Amino acid sequence: MPLDLAAVQAALPGREIHWQASVPSTMHTAARLAAAGASSGTVAGADEQTGGMGRFGRPWHSAADAGLYFSVVLRMPFQPGELPMVTLALGLAAREAIIDSTGVVCDLRWPNDLLIADRKCAGILTQLENRAVIAGIGINVNQAEFPTDIAGIATSLRLAAGRPLSREQLLVRLLPAVDEWCALDRASILRVFGESSSYVRGRRVVVEIGQGELLNGTTAGLTLDGYLIVRDDRGKEHTIIAGGVRPA
Ligand code: BTN
Repeated sequence: MPLDLAAVQAALPGREIHWQASVPSTMHTAARLAAAGASSGTVAGADEQTGGMGRFGRPWHSAADAGLYFSVVLRMPFQPGELPMVTLALGLAAREAIIDSTGVVCDLRWPNDLLIADRKCAGILTQLENRAVIAGIGINVNQAEFPTDIAGIATSLRLAAGRPLSREQLLVRLLPAVDEWCALDRASILRVFGESSSYVRGRRVVVEIGQGELLNGTTAGLTLDGYLIVRDDRGKEHTIIAGGVRPA
């Protein structure tokens, strides 16, 4: 079923929400709204994306009416170097809203993955466009199955909960959580992310650090800017700025 936008708007009066049946990517819709002067907190969402985008140019599976696919225009005074902190804050917002509205508890994998038993159920994509942050959030809510290429690494909240879930309730809980977590100070974001993620400390990981090069090591915390520290097997510490992190 398409999202019941009237119910969401009734629960969030004053929130500007542009919801469409199908778009290539809500990242583009939100960027256009931002360029046209949309205020902070404006939401561009869709029941389906035909060209949903993940990190590193990967596609984001966006089957019609199954997940939540939306992007928020954020006009806080962010510098490009602060994007990692925004990504961490958005992950915490999504984790909190998922717990509150569904009871499902997710792990966080730096910087942008939400996991259930090491399978991905949600992802965050942040882009800086004309001084606004476009914060994309994709959550697998009611998918009962996935295409074969991601079936082994993806899951949904419905599969975890064992029952269909309300996308409306999740969105109503999540949008205020985005505002709250993004307004929080860095130290709090870093502390709570560290407490909520099994990947921040003491986790054996493999990190793609570019050009097919892999780093094997153990996670050793976050820098003050929100980057991941990985200690290799010789004890040397590496700051991971953008690499994909996988369990070793
Ligand atoms: C990732 O985990 O690689 C990031 C996934 C982000 C997906 C969301 S869905 C809404 C928004 N529109 C997109 O095209 N991507 C983001």
